[in-house]
Amino acid sequence: MESTVTKASSIPFSMTNGFSSSPSPPISTEYDNNDSISESLKITESREWSIRASPKALATINPIRKIVETMNLTPNREKPFIPLSIGDPTLFGNFKPCDEILDAMLTTVNSSKFNGYQPASGNEEARKAVAEYCSSYGMNVEAKDIVLSSGCSHALDMAMAILATPGCNMLVPRPGFPLYKTLSATIGVQIKYYNLLPERNWQIDIDDLESKIDENTAAIIYNNPSNPCGSVFPENHIRQLLNVAERHHIPIIADEIYENIVFPGHEFHAIASLTDEVPVFHCSGTTKKFLIPGWRLGWIAINDKKDRFGIDIRTGLNSLSQRIIGPNSLIQGAIGRILTKTPKSFFDEIITNVHRNADHAFNRLRTMKGLKPIQPAGAFYIMVHIEMKNFPAFHHDLHLVETLVSEESVFCLPGACFEYPGYVRLVLAIDYEMLDEAMDRIESFTNRYFVNDQITDESNDLDIQMN
Ligand SMILES: Cc1ncc(COP(=O)(O)O)c(C=O)c1O
Repeated sequence: MESTVTKASSIPFSMTNGFSSSPSPPISTEYDNNDSISESLKITESREWSIRASPKALATINPIRKIVETMNLTPNREKPFIPLSIGDPTLFGNFKPCDEILDAMLTTVNSSKFNGYQPASGNEEARKAVAEYCSSYGMNVEAKDIVLSSGCSHALDMAMAILATPGCNMLVPRPGFPLYKTLSATIGVQIKYYNLLPERNWQIDIDDLESKIDENTAAIIYNNPSNPCGSVFPENHIRQLLNVAERHHIPIIADEIYENIVFPGHEFHAIASLTDEVPVFHCSGTTKKFLIPGWRLGWIAINDKKDRFGIDIRTGLNSLSQRIIGPNSLIQGAIGRILTKTPKSFFDEIITNVHRNADHAFNRLRTMKGLKPIQPAGAFYIMVHIEMKNFPAFHHDLHLVETLVSEESVFCLPGACFEYPGYVRLVLAIDYEMLDEAMDRIESFTNRYFVNDQITDESNDLDIQMN
């Protein structure tokens, strides 16, 4: 059969790129040889349709989906479903962005000035506004240090990808946000977990973390305030972590998307504000604090007072941002106003409501048989330990969670989603009455299934004596 392939070298250069009318340089390709063209065509013509997903795509796993999809989750039709599982504060309609945030977006849309492409790493004015906002947390950054992204997930993706050298590993908290593992697959990073300690309000087990470092450790991923723990690290604890990172010369990827969602008596410290020595990618965005997760604006603030990242890190981040050309243009147009005009009272109200829910959930759960909640200090979550030995009717905690759904229509995410079986995570950014109703139902469930293990032990003893 006649070949219809046009030789690349026969196409004028001006037509291939549209920018130059200079004479075409010789472009050498494998198609220069007619024999090899027909050989390769013969091979492709004789092959069957066989379109496969790439191994990297198949290795990309979202642990939450992976676990939840294997579960039998059929709510009780008699009771309205209460999903305490989804970390989207807008889901129930009681946490909403304020008028100033909506006005900023409407003004941007009406201006018609932000319908076009923006620079890949973000519009200059928007990056300036984000840099000023980050400075309010004590970071020393300018517009040139900011890369805008499509939500914090994209910021984390780029921050991990830029440091992912072949064969490297990154340290990740356990329990922790499962996205870090999901992102690691496509960039070939091995994940090594370091423990958080429930008995110490989920502070990092610093010795454990240090023991996981080796010569291939490319970054420590750190999350504060924490999803799923709802913990907030005190300053001296953050300094302990920085001390380890400094001694071992390891940069930090700081996931601080819940920045400042902290309850009275606790304080948020941006880790980058506490160090001159350790380079930090601060990853955040408007998702949680401004209650606009769907608007998809995130950012990386490159904190590197001693220029340890080197020039190619910035160039590389810029190249990575060109893969999808930044977040949508409208949020870039609105962000300056959003960051400066949102009143403090808006944040205060969110914190008051989540704090009220957190206290209520904690105080109710701690009186329930077989449950041990750990009091949160911020973010939108509470972790609850289930004493499985007191619930012998269930083979494991996933079975208990399934039964809670089928009998009480209350769904909490199993700790296995966060590499932490034996716990469940409850979302607190929901309507108070709904939360209270969920508490009533969880209580009647635990009352129904709780078995006092001391009675079980005694009856075992009795059995033994009678035999
Ligand atoms: C700890 C943590 N990091 C990152 C993200 C992702 O945020 P975004 O929706 O802005 O991508 C979330 C979302 O739930 C989160 O909980």
